[in-house]
Amino acid sequence: MFGKKKDIPQIDKDQLELIETAQKRIKQKKRLYIHFVVFLIGAVFLIVANTVLGIGKDFKIFDINWFVFAILIWLFLFIYHLFNVFITHKFMGKAWEQKQLEKLVAKQQKRIGKLKAGFIKEETLLAQSEVFTETKTPSKKPELTIIVAAAENDAIGKGNKLIWHLSDDLKHFKHLTNGHHIIMGRKTFESFPKPLSNRTHVVITRQTNYKAPDGVILVNSLEDAIDAAKGDKQPFIIGGGEIYKQAMSVADKIELTRVHESFEADTYFPKIDTTVWKETANIFHPKDENHEYGFSFLTYERK
Ligand SMILES: NC(=O)c1ccc[n+]([C@@H]2O[C@H](COP(=O)([O-])OP(=O)(O)OC[C@H]3O[C@@H](n4cnc5c(N)ncnc54)[C@H](OP(=O)(O)O)[C@@H]3O)[C@@H](O)[C@H]2O)c1
Repeated sequence: MFGKKKDIPQIDKDQLELIETAQKRIKQKKRLYIHFVVFLIGAVFLIVANTVLGIGKDFKIFDINWFVFAILIWLFLFIYHLFNVFITHKFMGKAWEQKQLEKLVAKQQKRIGKLKAGFIKEETLLAQSEVFTETKTPSKKPELTIIVAAAENDAIGKGNKLIWHLSDDLKHFKHLTNGHHIIMGRKTFESFPKPLSNRTHVVITRQTNYKAPDGVILVNSLEDAIDAAKGDKQPFIIGGGEIYKQAMSVADKIELTRVHESFEADTYFPKIDTTVWKETANIFHPKDENHEYGFSFLTYERK
């Protein structure tokens, strides 16, 4: 009951196939050998039947005894048998089939490899051309820019008015925004005596029945204002306090005039987070007879 289990020898599939093939070959050769012996005996019998026993003694073809033809035909059949066993078998046997299959598979694999290589090459060229196009063609995305003048304490307005009058800063504003969309809150729009020339005004209001002069685009949100200016390469957000606050997270650039003084105000510009924005330009304008305060033109770009 607890005796050692007897090992049963295992034959795998390949070995079994080899054995079967060998057995088949032995049978084929055996049959050929029997055929050879029968042929020899048969040939002797045919000769004896004709010459000794006199069977068909008078039957001749081209003056040659019939048994010669019978033996020749039989010999031909035997040679055909011999050929099948030793020659045709080699060409058409299982091994031959396997070899042909392997050749075919190798050929197909080579073709697939070639196709793959061609495909990878094409993909690489395509990717390279895309990178090339991206680097050569300037980005189509508009550069949304905040433009503002803020004091040292970030004051920007009081009583819906600017706190200072700095003519060179107004020229700077005019020069930068000329020909562009200017996006503003309703209160800032109302702080102008009339719309500014050569600029497209986009005014944001929650009012649905707000009236504005012809040519002024009225929208109900900052998103709609940006959308209305999407054809412009550089639309400007020009204020005031409420709109600046909302635009800080979506703007790409800030053009800030920093007025080097602090003021009492009711409207302020949000603090510029230097972890988000990097200063890329800084031009100082001193105080003079036309400018009561010194100021600097600063440019910030999103990091
Ligand atoms: N120093 C500078 O560079 C500068 C530049 C511009 C302005 N400012 C000053 O800033 C002050 C004005 O700023 P402010 O903050 O009082 O007003 P504002 O931002 O100009 O406008 C506020 C108005 O915009 C509309 N609005 C705001 N957010 C909106 C939203 N999400 N959707 C729809 N409508 C929206 C509302 O209009 P409705 O009430 O009609 O709904 C709101 O009352 C003034 O003193 C001005 O002189 C200074």
